[in-house]
Amino acid sequence: MFRSRVAGTGHYLPLKILTNFDLERLVDTTDQWIRERTGIERRHVAADDEVTTDLALKATLKALEDAGKTPNDLDMIIFCTVTGDQVMPSSACVLQQKLGCDRIPAFDLSAACSGFVYGLSVADQFIKTGHHRCILIVGAEIIHRFVNYKDRETCILFGDGAGAFILERADHDDSNVILSTHLRAEGALGDLFVLPAGGSKKPFSQEVLDKGEHYVRMKGREIFKNAVRTMAAVCQEALEHNKIGIDQVSWLVPHQANWRIMEAVAEHFGFPKEKVVSVVHEMGNTSAATIPVAFDMARKDGRIKRGQFILLTAFGAGLTAGSALLRF
Ligand code: UT7
Repeated sequence: MFRSRVAGTGHYLPLKILTNFDLERLVDTTDQWIRERTGIERRHVAADDEVTTDLALKATLKALEDAGKTPNDLDMIIFCTVTGDQVMPSSACVLQQKLGCDRIPAFDLSAACSGFVYGLSVADQFIKTGHHRCILIVGAEIIHRFVNYKDRETCILFGDGAGAFILERADHDDSNVILSTHLRAEGALGDLFVLPAGGSKKPFSQEVLDKGEHYVRMKGREIFKNAVRTMAAVCQEALEHNKIGIDQVSWLVPHQANWRIMEAVAEHFGFPKEKVVSVVHEMGNTSAATIPVAFDMARKDGRIKRGQFILLTAFGAGLTAGSALLRF
């Protein structure tokens, strides 16, 4: 059996910024409330002429450059998103065309905010079996187009962005590999976080627009509790599976939705808060993009280094959750 290693990482955040003060003018909220309850200060939003695959392309090109590779080296594309360019064709196929690497398999993966960890796990399996050697996993979202800027509980949280990893087959003597991934889902709790319309259950109609059913709806407090419980559990699972102690892990890179959630996850499994990577102040919740963006930012600012044990954990609509332990 083969192992996979992270050969390169990259991210892209759109240039336009939406601050808490901008939101004060849209809904009944304050900068202070948002910062105290979430840690978020600003988010990036895509320009009107930008689509999700544009963000993904920019993050991918940076990750490829970081890995010293070109699009022709890729043999699979996994595009993790719930806000793709369109329902059909998949964003993965659109990105494949933009990258100019024809024929390789390309597909979208829908696991909401857990999408990237799910994608990493799928890519890892393809590399382990020897079927593939070099896989792009990109998490990209333009979620602001699915957010109701009259709903203060959701609109303050979300932003747009993209992050990418290039995963490749490791040499047999390479110890910087993905050690394990752990995925979960609890469909019974699916109604806590939904985008009601636009699928076969409720196609678009005037009624959908009038009721705002084309926007995300969330039971925030319930999501918060489940996020803490589940991410702490999958982190514990990853450590026990690999018989690795908390003190050996250099950084925890959790899904970036709310600093209080990240802090509570760390508290729940006894992980030091100062070793939690948080960039939520800078971008809010970018769904499937949060983990690769946070990882890449922490690499670029010198926190994450080669050889360190890094624990990733995600949680999202579905409900879905996952963790991955890697030696970078
Ligand atoms: O990727 C997963 C996706 N989602 C998440 O991870 C979100 C998880 N949930 C959260 O982050 C938090 O639950 C929120 C940030 C959404 C809300 O924070 P909270 O501390 O759980 O607040 P709460 O829902 O308990 O509400 C407290 C109060 C309420 O007022 P009353 O009922 O106490 O009078 C809310 O109406 O805060 C009010 N509130 C706001 N006030 C100012 C809710 N949103 C806002 C707001 N500005 N934006």
